[in-house]
Amino acid sequence: MLTIISRLLWRSKSTRPSHITPVLAGNLAVYLKSHGSEQSSMAARSVLLEVTPRNFITKASPMWPRPRPIALRKYKYPDTNSHIASRLGFRFLHITRPPSRTQGDNGDMSETHRPGWAKPLDPSLYAPDEEEKGFMKTTTGIQDDEELKAHILAVQSKAFGFYKYPCIRMFEFMRLKIARLPAYPQFIELGKQREGAIFLDMGCCFGNDVRKAVLDGWPIQGAIASDLSKDLWDLGHELFRSTPETFPVPFLKGDILDTSFLSLAPVLPTSTSPPAPAPPLDEVTSLNQLHGKLSAIYAAAFFHLFKFDGQEHVARLFAGLLSPLPGSMIFGVQGGRAVKGEWRPAEGTRMNCHSPESWKELWEGIFAEAGAKVEVKARLRKEIGGLSMFGTYPENTEHYHVLEWSVTRVE
Ligand SMILES: C[S@@+](CC[C@H](N)C(=O)[O-])C[C@H]1O[C@@H](n2cnc3c(N)ncnc32)[C@H](O)[C@@H]1O
Repeated sequence: MLTIISRLLWRSKSTRPSHITPVLAGNLAVYLKSHGSEQSSMAARSVLLEVTPRNFITKASPMWPRPRPIALRKYKYPDTNSHIASRLGFRFLHITRPPSRTQGDNGDMSETHRPGWAKPLDPSLYAPDEEEKGFMKTTTGIQDDEELKAHILAVQSKAFGFYKYPCIRMFEFMRLKIARLPAYPQFIELGKQREGAIFLDMGCCFGNDVRKAVLDGWPIQGAIASDLSKDLWDLGHELFRSTPETFPVPFLKGDILDTSFLSLAPVLPTSTSPPAPAPPLDEVTSLNQLHGKLSAIYAAAFFHLFKFDGQEHVARLFAGLLSPLPGSMIFGVQGGRAVKGEWRPAEGTRMNCHSPESWKELWEGIFAEAGAKVEVKARLRKEIGGLSMFGTYPENTEHYHVLEWSVTRVE
């Protein structure tokens, strides 16, 4: 480990430290003392790093001229390492193997499979209320109830063949999730009021929520959707009987943890000066082209696919995408708990759940680092589906709750 670490940080290409002294402190803490050749007082600097067994920096604090805590908490991702190193005036050299996506051990990645998710589909769970049915009828053009049901069941079954997300099995895609969030009216108003506003639906699956937003008035030319899976987006066209021509919202396939797709960018301080215009959305190929340009970012049933560290990393990625204009917002919904911790509905299934308080603290902290203020609203709601969540987790003993939240830039 020490060999790897000693290759970790250099002052910069041109001022490579002449000596690096690694000192093992405790199990995983490593001190690197760099004696740079530069005259400047910043040249010689000690850095305390805490590194996980998988070689991710979890904490870094400059120790010279005097120990100075910096507002950096737990980190795990290589891209974050670079960010921390550059804030400390160092250049980060790659030390990690990339997080692996191994089935059964999702490591640091988002969860896309769990053995417990492979429950048989159950058509009796198809029970849309009038508003949900109305949405599906408007979008698909199918007016007959039985025909609509058969169509939806057929597409659901195809999608479940790709990914066994409980949300697909439970028909979450027709529950008008976005529209039932407290922040929805504020979001729709933002789209109507702000010229050129751009909205991203991250982890969009079929694209049901972005379709609802467009139907309710978010300008279609200012909407974009992204997901790991293009198959699900394509099935969305089948589900809603549209084509890329009739529903021309651009779709970006990508893994949010892939830095060539989305890397950390500095969080912009809040400002009333609009950012430079974004490239035309149909020409955008990666989310990196939208740093600081998005007026609204939405993520449903997304954050809880990551562990706590991953959630913070994703939150930082989102914060880097957000427009500096006051009123710009990030919002969503995912598994939550009254007390931050793991929800364990079945053997081997754990969901890292924030509480309203810890979620608020996380976002305020991220924006405070850039001197920006945000108003964070978060509340818990008991989810439908009973203790077993529509039979997904028959042995579950703790009712599933969701955290409904929004983060809005304020002046
Ligand atoms: C549980 S589904 C939620 C879908 C939809 N937002 C909803 O609320 O119904 C999670 C979605 O996130 C996508 N996803 C999972 N991991 C991802 C990643 N690392 N990067 C981008 N998308 C990811 C999945 O493909 C899936 O469509």
